Amino acid sequence: MSQKKILADLHTHLNEKKVKPREWWAGVRNRKLSVVAITEHPQYDPLDAYLQLKATKPKWILLIPGIEVRTNAGDLLVYGEDERIYDVREFLKKDIAVEKALKKVKELKLTASFAHPYGYKHDSVCEVIGEKKAKALIKKYKLGTEYYNGMLGSASYLVFGGKAVKRFYSLVAFVERNKLSKVLHVSKGGAKAKTRLDKMAVNAVGRIQKPILFSKNAYFITVGSDAHYPKALGSGVIELKKMPKNTGEFLSMLKNKKTLWAGPNIYSKNPVDKIGRKEILGGLGYLTKKSIARKSKKGLKRKIGRKIGLGERIKTIKRITKRVKLRKIRTKLPRMRKKLFRK
Ligand SMILES: [Fe+2]
Repeated sequence: MSQKKILADLHTHLNEKKVKPREWWAGVRNRKLSVVAITEHPQYDPLDAYLQLKATKPKWILLIPGIEVRTNAGDLLVYGEDERIYDVREFLKKDIAVEKALKKVKELKLTASFAHPYGYKHDSVCEVIGEKKAKALIKKYKLGTEYYNGMLGSASYLVFGGKAVKRFYSLVAFVERNKLSKVLHVSKGGAKAKTRLDKMAVNAVGRIQKPILFSKNAYFITVGSDAHYPKALGSGVIELKKMPKNTGEFLSMLKNKKTLWAGPNIYSKNPVDKIGRKEILGGLGYLTKKSIARKSKKGLKRKIGRKIGLGERIKTIKRITKRVKLRKIRTKLPRMRKKLFRK
């Protein structure tokens, strides 16, 4: 008889995409999560997100109050034992100086972990301030890092297509086995990559591999789906040795590494999300960036070829796909990929 797995997802959103709490909890139950943290961004009312979920929470699931603080050194996931975490004004300011936020974390004995350390250039600690400074902050404030981000895993589906799951697992297992020895050299691979698809694959591999390797500098690790939609909840999980009694016990288990598996949700039938229209948009925005600008039509090139923000890119992609139904997108995707990655 197989024992119930105690799975936790430590990076999720609710208000940003106006998800209904009922649907959110259905997503949590679907992936059989036991612990889940709500880490809404400051601009989407994190307290409201927490209270909405708390009011509709199933009894047996532990809900952890959190915020994804936007610091000037990238996104920082902060967790607390109760909702007093939302009273900390420093966490609600946009682009707050990272040390200001971290001093508060230390003062209030909260738990903090750098989200997706190698995500976007503007929101990920190693990209914004570099690895050396990131390591110094981790040491000074005893921080964790996000070992695996489910959104990146799902985004890689776009690159690897149907083979995503297989390759993905072997990749994570491989990196894990060779953590301290020689591993895939992303930069070398990048230089050798001949096709656009190769380059994109190397890039995606790097975004998954680098945080795993970087986590050896952290005091503890966190894992989260970074879900913006219910379906994506639980795509990245950390497995606990036992069910914690309360948030305090959970946070100390996390810090004392009382964990088993960390990474994609290997216990789910669909560990990497099947992609829908919204996820396609998110994923394309995340992975393609300049590739879209380079290979698309003239008008679009003019619009997004310049250095512009993510919001604008997503909006443009939304405009392109607005009238195309999901089924059509699915059939068009292989062609789109071919177009984008043609030599
Ligand atoms: Fe997030």
